[in-house]
Amino acid sequence: MKSSTEIYDFLSSIISAAPYGIIAVDMIGEVLLLNEQALRYLEIGHSPNEVIEKKLVDFLPHLPQLANVVNQCINFGRENFDVSETSPGRRHLTIRGRQILNGMILTIEDVTATKEVERATLNAMLDGQEKERRRWAQEIHDGIGPVLSSIKMNLDEVQEEVYAKSSPRYQDNFETAQELLKSVTRDLRSISHDLMPSALEDFGLVSALDSLCKKFQTGDGPALQFIVTGEIQRLNSSIELALYRAGQELLHNALKYAKATRISLQLIKHRDSIVLMVEDDGIGFNKNQFGADNGIGLKNIATRIQSTGGDFVLETEEAHGTMVIIEIPL
Ligand SMILES: Nc1ncnc2c1ncn2[C@@H]1O[C@H](COP(=O)(O)OP(=O)(O)O)[C@@H](O)[C@H]1O
Ligand SMILES: [Mg+2]
Repeated sequence: MKSSTEIYDFLSSIISAAPYGIIAVDMIGEVLLLNEQALRYLEIGHSPNEVIEKKLVDFLPHLPQLANVVNQCINFGRENFDVSETSPGRRHLTIRGRQILNGMILTIEDVTATKEVERATLNAMLDGQEKERRRWAQEIHDGIGPVLSSIKMNLDEVQEEVYAKSSPRYQDNFETAQELLKSVTRDLRSISHDLMPSALEDFGLVSALDSLCKKFQTGDGPALQFIVTGEIQRLNSSIELALYRAGQELLHNALKYAKATRISLQLIKHRDSIVLMVEDDGIGFNKNQFGADNGIGLKNIATRIQSTGGDFVLETEEAHGTMVIIEIPL
């Protein structure tokens, strides 16, 4: 029979060779065993000896979500957990907690590299989507636009003749054709603008969001406010596009669903980040209910913002309006 020290050393050497961070704690949450990887991934600036036999949660003030679930396991009988946490050093960690005899074992995996690949894939997809939108916008603008203009010119040219020489029925037909042409021209312009807002490329985010708000400000709709705080210069084009698309979707949502009396869109420049905040005083909704069958607008914004390294926070409650805060580091 080996001594308990020998067994302990044996276990320590096994876990020190593991590709994951590993920590075992006892029933009161004190660390029994851990490897260097765990300390490194969790950014605990202590040596193993300083942590052994101490309460694990005391070393996790910078990882509140993890501290919270560990605490629930130790004090409130929660059994297992899986959490994703981003460390202050911006590592993406997946942490699993499993109950074992007289305690629990945590495994910590650094998934930063996988996340980076996911982010790159998503970015490539969004880039492709934007390129396609741009192509369509150009196609409409350069291909269909001139044809419509030329139809209009031809109709205008014969207008006087038609009114002077033909029966009221033909005049009506002629007028209807002109009206339809006008309306299809307007629709196409609006579609091409939605596809690729020229104001964004030419004049930047502030100007593009401003014209977006003006476009939707109607006399009988909710009061729409656009507030800019700080000096906002031109930003990196992918950030401008991500924020514009977010503003566009959030404004559409507020107008479509919220039954709001006020909607505000704020753009705030901090020293090293930019914040877009869209708020309405409408009916709100239950965040937990919105899943796969409930539209993809918000989910797309969240992923897109996260792919630029930013944060997306949605706060809403039934009858208490909706607020989305997006912050992108510059
Ligand atoms: N500002 C808002 N006020 C009230 N409900 C909202 C608001 N924004 C979103 N919702 C609700 O959340 C759902 C999901 O929105 P979204 O992801 O944009 O998808 P979609 O617009 O395609 O339905 C909407 O169907 C709506 O029920
Ligand atoms: Mg939507």
